[in-house]
Amino acid sequence: MAAINYTDKIPNNVNLATDRTLQRALEHWQPRFLEWWQGMGPTDFQGADVYLRTATSVDADGWATYGAVKMPEYRWGIFLADPVADRKIGFGDSMGQPAWEQVPGEYRSTLRRLIVTQGDTEPASVEQQRLLGHTCPSLYDLRNLFQVNVEEGRHLWAMVYLLHAYFGRDGREEAEELLQRHSGDADKPRILSTFNEPISDWLSFYCFTYFTDRDGKYQLKSFAESAFDPLSRTCRFMLTEEAHHMFVGETGIGRVVKRTLEVMKELGTDDPARIRAAGAVDLPLLQKYLNFWCSSSLDLFGSEISSNSASNFASGMKGRPDESQYEDHVLREIQLKLDTPDGTKDVPMLNALNEVMRESYLRDCEIGLKRWNRLIERAGHAFRLTLPSTRFRRSIGSWVSLPVTPEGKLVSREEYDRRLYEWIPSEEDKAFVRSLMQRVVEPGKMAGWVAPPDRGINNLPVEYEYVKLS
Ligand SMILES: [Fe+2]
Ligand SMILES: [Fe+2]
Repeated sequence: MAAINYTDKIPNNVNLATDRTLQRALEHWQPRFLEWWQGMGPTDFQGADVYLRTATSVDADGWATYGAVKMPEYRWGIFLADPVADRKIGFGDSMGQPAWEQVPGEYRSTLRRLIVTQGDTEPASVEQQRLLGHTCPSLYDLRNLFQVNVEEGRHLWAMVYLLHAYFGRDGREEAEELLQRHSGDADKPRILSTFNEPISDWLSFYCFTYFTDRDGKYQLKSFAESAFDPLSRTCRFMLTEEAHHMFVGETGIGRVVKRTLEVMKELGTDDPARIRAAGAVDLPLLQKYLNFWCSSSLDLFGSEISSNSASNFASGMKGRPDESQYEDHVLREIQLKLDTPDGTKDVPMLNALNEVMRESYLRDCEIGLKRWNRLIERAGHAFRLTLPSTRFRRSIGSWVSLPVTPEGKLVSREEYDRRLYEWIPSEEDKAFVRSLMQRVVEPGKMAGWVAPPDRGINNLPVEYEYVKLS
């Protein structure tokens, strides 16, 4: 089961050839996907040879082969993790019953919505990042960008397969719509607002892969628990691809910190103006980017108190990330204390699951912060990078639009407006970051604002020509 069939037009490990109707429907969608890739994917690099990994099996280790591929020839396909024999539902009111091989009628429209919303983010991020290649800080980074892009394209395939295979005509129509909405489009935007923000500089790209792809990881982890077994298996394999995206973010930001510390040492100063004049990102500026992307990604978890999250959990559609680490999997009896602007409230745990997920996400975000701060500490500086409070800059939930500082303190509206650009990038900050974005494509060379990575891809040297531009 684990081996992937590459002789079919659509690579897959789901025996697609045995279901002619499904195969034909997906083969009909395939050229539209390629058209979308050509029109909305990375601009101008379609003829380049890119050193990419492609899935060859779904085993935990050794699933990838590496080689030079032109992106439009990437073998996008349908890869599900192996089934777990006699899998049972692991949470909610139907806990212990057999997992679902088909979609129960009463959950059909909700599950379809959940899959479409997840599916929509995948091509959206490719669209958001389509211009980045032109200002790549190195060939190594350019290759990583394209690896992320082709895999987000594959994640779209993953969701489209579920829609085609399990949701009939509605599912096929949704699959078409996924190619018709576009990031930032005035008439047909992507579903979630974070995915309509263009990502036009690499500092934002590193932050996006660190914070927003990590939200993706948490969504996938909660779907990996789903009672709907095909969704669970799909998401379990997607998670193995997702890990690389967060690696790009964590090491990217780490390399920025490293380079900034070198410049601080050379100049013997921590004066932001002098660091900027030397072409590096001062640490307070990096903090503003972290504040912006972290707070924007926190909104993706939804309101702290949510009846949808309660019913998705109770029904078995969506669990908590790493469900097995908890003791109570039904949650009918317990409450959670929530801090709201009107004081602490006791909320039924089932209704507070978005908040539970957001908190475990933030603990995961802390890991990178610790690494980066260790670099700063070792260089002898007192400055520390931090995550903003979950109340800062919220556009959803009980703290929506309240004037709260990144430390979580409620201040006057006047103070908030006056100080906002101490906390998130101002137009001037963004213009400075844009000015750093100069294309570097000599093998092994790096832009001046980012340190080289510790090692290359797949044991190759950093100097390897990861993208051969045509
Ligand atoms: Fe993805
Ligand atoms: Fe991703």
